[in-house]
Amino acid sequence: MRMTDLIAKKRNGGTLSADEIRFFVNGYTDGSIPDYQASALTMAIYFRGMGPAETAALTRAMADSGERLVLPDMGLRADKHSTGGVGDKTTLIVAPIVAACGVHVAKMSGRGLGHTGGTTDKLSAIPGLRTDLSVQEIASIVQNCGLCVAGSTQELAPADKKLYALRDVTATVDSIPLIAASIMSKKIAAGAQNLVLDVKTGSGAFMKRSADAKALAKAMVDIGTHEGLRVTALITNMDAPLGYAIGNTLEVIEAVQTLQGIGPQDLTELCLQLAAQMLQLCGKGTQEECLEQAQNALFSGLALERFIWMVSAQGGDSSVITDTSQFCKSRFFRSVKARADGYIRRIDAEKCGVAAMLLGAGRQTKEDEIDPAAGIVLDVKPGSAIRSGDRIATLFAEREDAFADAVAVLGDAFEVSDTPPKPIPMVIDRVSNV
Ligand code: URA
Repeated sequence: MRMTDLIAKKRNGGTLSADEIRFFVNGYTDGSIPDYQASALTMAIYFRGMGPAETAALTRAMADSGERLVLPDMGLRADKHSTGGVGDKTTLIVAPIVAACGVHVAKMSGRGLGHTGGTTDKLSAIPGLRTDLSVQEIASIVQNCGLCVAGSTQELAPADKKLYALRDVTATVDSIPLIAASIMSKKIAAGAQNLVLDVKTGSGAFMKRSADAKALAKAMVDIGTHEGLRVTALITNMDAPLGYAIGNTLEVIEAVQTLQGIGPQDLTELCLQLAAQMLQLCGKGTQEECLEQAQNALFSGLALERFIWMVSAQGGDSSVITDTSQFCKSRFFRSVKARADGYIRRIDAEKCGVAAMLLGAGRQTKEDEIDPAAGIVLDVKPGSAIRSGDRIATLFAEREDAFADAVAVLGDAFEVSDTPPKPIPMVIDRVSNV
């Protein structure tokens, strides 16, 4: 096979065979296919797309490019993945809920880049907590606590790591088959069998339009069908940040409040819905029954107990979870005030994410160090009534010079109108192969 023939075939709108796709993935992973040919092919895929069989073949080849996480059989197991959003701390709440309902969760999570934070960055804000765990450690933590959240290793789907880095610098990230294959290859390599996908749509998401989010959800569910996974995708609203807290320590504190049953309404609702879908995929009952089980686990405190077990088992200091006032705080803070009377019409999630990143809560390049305490706490949601001069957000940072740009970006994130906006439901749509 010659790479130029594959590029020309896709450029002309042809369909690549599974063997051709594997030739490309293996050759790119082992370095025999250079970046310029891989860039040309990904750009051809960007414009020409891929059919369901091609996307599934790409996913399988990427999943096979490295090791697979094989855990001992431990009964019912479910996994979740979010396409990434601002203030998205759902894993910290959903995994303990599901574990408290008798379904194991062994989740591999990533670091964040850009305006959306990664779950391992959030967990790393807990003093001592380790996410660089061996397969044996993951298995034993899951067996003892029912859940474990570990960082993704270099060995799982290395083709995706290389391809994602290339797509990031060649304007080929926003391609539905490439995103779907990237996400699903990592989930398959991590051994997922019952998978719930939280596909975000709105200003803070990859997919700004809900029709694109639905197409991505469908592409991933189709891959699941091809590969024998049970998959449900919820298309959920990411027009405004999830909850009120953005930034690693601040989000852990909000997750703990939610596990105490006193979290923000939008975050609580989404976590219960995601947990219920995971339980349903594992055959724990109807949607209503699973939602009730998830509510009981959350409001009884059993899910919080699971989270504390997990934190200790991963080497973290669980006293900061039982008393969150012990978390390290930022040295400086600033408030943003409302500029007019009225109602909050919109809070641009992407601008909030960028402002948090400028404060040190996220990375602009993958080498950047994160400041765990930095971030933003919002005082308002879309629909909140405000008066000019009311505080609408507080920003936290370790360096005073971080505030100027962050305050300017965040100030522009709020739109105010004379009438309240029409509420957008948290869960917009659902796609499932079960
Ligand atoms: N997240 C991923 O893991 N891969 C993509 O391609 C996009 C988002």
